[in-house]
Amino acid sequence: MKHVIDIKDLSVEEIDSLIKVAKDIINHKEKYSHKCDGKKLATLFFEPSTRTRLSFESAMMELGGNVIGFSEASSSSVSKGETVADTIRVVGCYSDIIAMRHPKEGAPYVASMKSEVPIINAGDGGHNHPTQTLTDLLTIECEKGRLDNLTIGLCGDLKFGRTVHSLITAMSRYKNIKFVLISPDELKLPEYIKKDILEKNNIEYVETKSMDEYMKDLDILYMTRVQRERFFNEEDYVRLKDYYILNKAKLENAKKDLCILHPLPRVNEISTDVDDDPRACYFKQVRYGKYIRMALILKLLEVK
Ligand code: CP
Repeated sequence: MKHVIDIKDLSVEEIDSLIKVAKDIINHKEKYSHKCDGKKLATLFFEPSTRTRLSFESAMMELGGNVIGFSEASSSSVSKGETVADTIRVVGCYSDIIAMRHPKEGAPYVASMKSEVPIINAGDGGHNHPTQTLTDLLTIECEKGRLDNLTIGLCGDLKFGRTVHSLITAMSRYKNIKFVLISPDELKLPEYIKKDILEKNNIEYVETKSMDEYMKDLDILYMTRVQRERFFNEEDYVRLKDYYILNKAKLENAKKDLCILHPLPRVNEISTDVDDDPRACYFKQVRYGKYIRMALILKLLEVK
């Protein structure tokens, strides 16, 4: 039985295969509509979500399966003091696969140690978000036609941004990837990711505070939200929240085929005047998320 807690739980070959299946689902939806008949997905969300929870639920329904779960801890027996480990043991009696989001880093890993069904990490604190990364990879593959030879700008909260951490880990396994890390000093990429992923794999990267400095070089611009829920101090959040705002003027020197991504939700960091730009791919990215999660459910349930 396989769990997906970290993007590294999937090899490059497995990711390529998931992307292939997701593309086939996009082109032949009817072929997949009964693949999970009689199966149940449990979505256990101890932290708020729109895209991840609903795309998992939609994915399972489009495969013919059913969905159970909760969208906030307060509506589960966790509010009475039940542990994550006990919750997982119980929910495993009612479901075939579990997608779980938790504010504490490592909680899905703990769950996987106790679970008798596959666990998918749907985001743990500021740590990892592997299925967002699968979404990002499918989007890049479909929009750019490749996952190698790319200069990727990551902008905003690189410290707490779990989507950024998982995406760097995943993209570092492809050839000729360069990163431009754009953040204020307070929200720089953690040292352990620079050392253990970028430097260990000889990946080229630069750090800058300027959104403009490297704009012309980028193939991908991955914007992120400054996350209020990760700050201990409201003053720091208020000072940093609008540090970067991407608007049409900022894109003047960008490549014509730049691909602008954002895991969403956005607050102010992308102006709505960018939404109509053909380079804005963040709403397409949402749609790709459902298809790659369908492919992942099929893989973990070992459905042919
Ligand atoms: N991208 C993402 O994780 O969005 P949600 O928080 O709405 O699930």
